[in-house]
Amino acid sequence: MSPNTQPGSTGGEVSSATDGRGALDLSVRLGDLELQNPILTASGTFGYGLEFAPLTTLEQFGGLVTKGLSLAPRPGNPPPRICETRGGMLNSIGLQNIGIHAFLDDVLPGLADYPSQVIVNLFGTAQADYVALAELVDAQAGIAAVELNVSCPNVKKGGIEFGHDPKMLSGLVSAVRSATSKPVIVKLSPNVTSPAELAKSARDAGADMISAINTIIGMSIDTWSRRPRLHTVRGGLSGPAIKPIALRIVYDVVNAVDCPVIAIGGVEDVDDVLEFLIAGASAVQVGTALFRDPQRGPSLVDELESRLAEQGYSSVSDIIGSIVLPTPRDEEHP
Ligand code: SIN
Repeated sequence: MSPNTQPGSTGGEVSSATDGRGALDLSVRLGDLELQNPILTASGTFGYGLEFAPLTTLEQFGGLVTKGLSLAPRPGNPPPRICETRGGMLNSIGLQNIGIHAFLDDVLPGLADYPSQVIVNLFGTAQADYVALAELVDAQAGIAAVELNVSCPNVKKGGIEFGHDPKMLSGLVSAVRSATSKPVIVKLSPNVTSPAELAKSARDAGADMISAINTIIGMSIDTWSRRPRLHTVRGGLSGPAIKPIALRIVYDVVNAVDCPVIAIGGVEDVDDVLEFLIAGASAVQVGTALFRDPQRGPSLVDELESRLAEQGYSSVSDIIGSIVLPTPRDEEHP
């Protein structure tokens, strides 16, 4: 169904208004990954999922992306490792996690009770680690896809080294591609000159999807003590402050690769979700907003449904990539 346009809008056909009732299809298909709706958790903001079961309606998320998992458990960086900033927050957790074996044994069985797809975020300090992780999860029926973390700014070794270098990224992705039949998502760093170039390298090497962006490197100082607010001095900035940057990068990546793109970066409200979808993302991860309100994900699903119905859509897929760009005629206007 064609959308109803908003007053002042320049694009799209006007169709008869709907009353918002009836079945609106929120499901999205990203290659072999099918989600009941396009709202996922962002890795590192929602633990391993189950911890949040008492606080939110887990079953309403389209997908649950785990905290980054490594082969062995990691203690992460020393505190302080989180601080608030204007319009966002800085973190330098350092990929603290329970390790893949504890996740598979103790957490994954409990996640099977929920219809949300489980995506494991994987991290290693060497290519062999990523390959071993991918092999371990390959046989796990409860895991729908893997997301490769090649973009954490908070660790000295691993991850981001791959995400900065197209050749290393390509080698890593093709090695992981051979190690698993699960869909492979590559999570990109914004802290590079051209995320779109790295997206192309990942796609050419066999990535099924790209997710973008991870946090932007930032810093904060307490002016009374003159000490950096994070033990590691620098950390990753997330939250609404980064959304326009994330939107620009997602749009560039969408135009650079022929595969689904998952948007991440500062989503707070339904307009943020819609902006990413209109720019061409097939799904959206919600992160920092969940710290304040773990129910924000499910309420965004409800708000997305109402908003699309109000605008006359019958399927969320219809809005994906529907951006209306200026035409030469628009530019003639003063
Ligand atoms: C962290 O654990 O430091 C954050 C994870 C990430 O940025 O990938």
